[in-house]
Amino acid sequence: MSAFNDDIEVGSAISKWFLGKSVFITGGTGFMGKVLIEKLLRTCSVRRIYVLVRPKRGVDAKQRIEDIFNYKLFDRIKATQPEVIQKVVAIKGDVTMEGLGISDEDEARLAEEVSVVFHAAATINFQEPMRVAVNLNILGTKRVVSLAKKMTNLKAFVHVSTAYGNCHLPNIDEKLYAPPMESSKLIQLTEWLDDDMLESLTNKLIHPRPNTYTYTKALAEQVLITDGANLPIVIIRPTIVCGAWREPIPGWVDNMFAFTGLLVGMGKGFLRSLYINE
Ligand SMILES: NC(=O)c1ccc[n+]([C@@H]2O[C@H](COP(=O)([O-])OP(=O)(O)OC[C@H]3O[C@@H](n4cnc5c(N)ncnc54)[C@H](OP(=O)(O)O)[C@@H]3O)[C@@H](O)[C@H]2O)c1
Repeated sequence: MSAFNDDIEVGSAISKWFLGKSVFITGGTGFMGKVLIEKLLRTCSVRRIYVLVRPKRGVDAKQRIEDIFNYKLFDRIKATQPEVIQKVVAIKGDVTMEGLGISDEDEARLAEEVSVVFHAAATINFQEPMRVAVNLNILGTKRVVSLAKKMTNLKAFVHVSTAYGNCHLPNIDEKLYAPPMESSKLIQLTEWLDDDMLESLTNKLIHPRPNTYTYTKALAEQVLITDGANLPIVIIRPTIVCGAWREPIPGWVDNMFAFTGLLVGMGKGFLRSLYINE
């Protein structure tokens, strides 16, 4: 008997579609990004996975990518097909920098080789100052779209949005919603207002959304429509992502944010009641 759950996805139409394709991922060092890399490596015969990574706390991009394979998440791959890890290539860059801060050489390589983009990099801090949230979530999306436009063989641009971009509405449908304001106007505001003024306007701007995260993620969807007009764009809007259901390891999660934190509190018996909206 296998130590692992069965993989019904290997050999599926999705897996075949990825055969030989090169993929570019932003946010690959994050929770969702790591799971995506693992799944692509394990079940889809991709040619290469380029991951945009910024140097952090003195660790360079290449080392940061090597480090993600130390997570238990990758044990299954390391036990069964360790060679696929070589397919992952770090691209040094940062979504807050012009041109994503990547070298001309890397840009040319991505433009020529990549046919699938997954844009997951974002700040998920609900309380992020508006200027930071705009730079990461809105301008960052613009910069990734701009790179994608140079890809001569692009087949899909998958943007990781959130179901809470329009959380003030009672129901969310699979359609685009009118943005709360034009993203270009908000970007201009962040250019000429100082921090104090921007901070004092923030609550008015985001209303009726609760925070800068949901607000800037909603506006990022609009950027895809305006800047990425002719690109093959897919917008996915996850709700709250918790630990893995089955694969590669049941329950795998790398953080204690949001609902996972509540589950830990409940499981440990610390959290016995919760104030919720009836
Ligand atoms: N987790 C959820 O429940 C959930 C639900 C709905 C939607 N989403 C969406 O899913 C995406 C990923 O979320 P997550 O939960 O995986 O978040 P996460 O663990 O915080 O990961 C965020 C990723 O973005 C990268 N990033 C941040 N700033 C960057 C910068 N300046 N340049 C380049 N990369 C940068 C981070 O890189 P570093 O390692 O360098 O910091 C990290 O790889 C986000 O777009 C989020 O809105 C998540």
